[in-house]
Amino acid sequence: MKALVVYESTWGNTERIAQAIAAGLAGGTRALPLKTARAEELDKIDLLVIGSPVISGRPSQSMQTYLQSVKRETAAKLKVAAFDTRLKSRFATVLGNAASRMTAKFQELGSNAIAKPEGFIVKGQKGPLADGEVDRATRWGKDLARLLSRASRGELSPSLSRKTVEGVRRRVSHRAVIHRVHEVPPRGISEQEGRNGW
Ligand SMILES: Cc1cc2nc3c(=O)[nH]c(=O)nc-3n(C[C@H](O)[C@H](O)[C@H](O)COP(=O)(O)O)c2cc1C
Repeated sequence: MKALVVYESTWGNTERIAQAIAAGLAGGTRALPLKTARAEELDKIDLLVIGSPVISGRPSQSMQTYLQSVKRETAAKLKVAAFDTRLKSRFATVLGNAASRMTAKFQELGSNAIAKPEGFIVKGQKGPLADGEVDRATRWGKDLARLLSRASRGELSPSLSRKTVEGVRRRVSHRAVIHRVHEVPPRGISEQEGRNGW
C-alpha cells in the first residue's frame, strides 16, 4: 500500500505538517509540493493525503484548480485523507475550512475518505504552528497508516466515511442556498467558486 502527501504552502506551516504526516505514514512516503506533483503520480498510489492552508474558508486557489483537474476515473480508485492549517478563531470557524471541502470534493469524485478531515493550528497568518501540532501530525500519519492497512483488508467501517460526506454536503448546500437567495455570490465567494461548488 503506497501513500503520497501533496500539499500547498506559502509560509511553510502546511509544508512542515505535510512532512510530519509523511514521516508518520513511513514506508518511504513522500511529501510533494503541489507545483511539482504530476497527475500521473495519482495512478501509482493507494492513499492520497492532501493538504492546504485555509484561505477565506477554502483551499488555496491553486489547490482548487488542481482538484478541478483530477479525473473521476483516477479519483474513484483512490483512498484519501485531507488536512489543512488554520487559525483558531470564531471568525475562521464560521467561514468553513479547506480539509472538509477537499474531502467532499474527492468523495464527489468517488474516492474513499478513510479519515475525517483534520486541521492543524497556526498562531498567526504566517505561523508559527501552535505547540505540539507537528507531533500531532506525525501521530495522525501513523493513524492513517493503520487505517490504510485496515481499509486494504476490507475492515474499515463505511459508516465513518458516509457520516463525513453527509456533514460536509449539508454545509455546502447551505451555502448554495445563500448563493441562490442573494443571486450574487455572498461575500468571500467569487462567482467562479459559486458556480463550481467551492
Ligand atoms: C488571504 C488569507 C486568508 C485566510 N483565511 C483564513 C480562514 O478563512 N480561516 C483560517 O483559519 N485561516 C485563514 N488564513 C490563515 C491561513 O490558514 C494561514 O496563513 C496558513 O495556515 C499558513 O499556511 P502556510 O504557512 O502553509 O502558507 C488566511 C490567510 C490568508 C493569507
